[in-house]
Amino acid sequence: MTVSATRARALVAGNWKMHKLPSEAAAWLRDLLAAVSASEDTAADIALLVPYTHLPGMAKLAFGGPVALGAQDLSSHTEGAYTGEVSGAMLRDVGAAYVIVGHSERRAYHHEDDALVNAKLAAASTAGLVPILCVGESREQRDAGEAGNVVLSQLTGALDGFAFTGPGSLVVAYEPVWAIGTGLTATAADAQEMCALIRQALERRFGQEGSEVRVLYGGSMKPSNAAELLAKPDIDGGLIGGASLDVADLLAIAGAA
Ligand code: PGA
Repeated sequence: MTVSATRARALVAGNWKMHKLPSEAAAWLRDLLAAVSASEDTAADIALLVPYTHLPGMAKLAFGGPVALGAQDLSSHTEGAYTGEVSGAMLRDVGAAYVIVGHSERRAYHHEDDALVNAKLAAASTAGLVPILCVGESREQRDAGEAGNVVLSQLTGALDGFAFTGPGSLVVAYEPVWAIGTGLTATAADAQEMCALIRQALERRFGQEGSEVRVLYGGSMKPSNAAELLAKPDIDGGLIGGASLDVADLLAIAGAA
């Protein structure tokens, strides 16, 4: 088990998926910003990964404030004849700081393989976005004792050639597929074990600075289980789906960090 020497400030990142309308998001964000500025102690950095359509409006409200914004995907291309695609530079231009890459829902429903995830990771860093790289095993893979191998192989595939420029240039989220949106959560011990494995792999690849990359847990994290997960030495925050749609829940998770 590796514990990073200088523990990173926690990152609580909300993945809204395909929820809420842009017109609803403004009021929601105002509530969040008011609550964050009223609370004396924000132990965690907060980011919201929202649909493309929501970014310009939300960025106007969030500009210069304590809540960062990001997208849930990006094109692997920088520009060109790619109907329906959105580039990293476009996302930066409307105020995104982060982008999720390789979420299991993209891998499953949009057939994203390691090569595409690798190209998207490169595109994100070229555009100056911090990628939140998602890795995680299926139930079958865990039952077969393959969880560690699967995650390490996803990590290797994604990071090959990655232009690492320090701990702030990358975030990795361990998201066991069977825990996403199911209400099932990895035990804190299992999540810690996998996050430690990821941290060791990052250290092998990038040295000491690699061990300082923020490693998040995602998969049905909610106020009732966040404190136990976030207390683990190698879990530096959470990637939160369902519970990030509610201001109070998101703040409770951030408060538990
Ligand atoms: P969940 O989603 O918190 O709803 O399980 C997590 C995710 O998909 O990032």
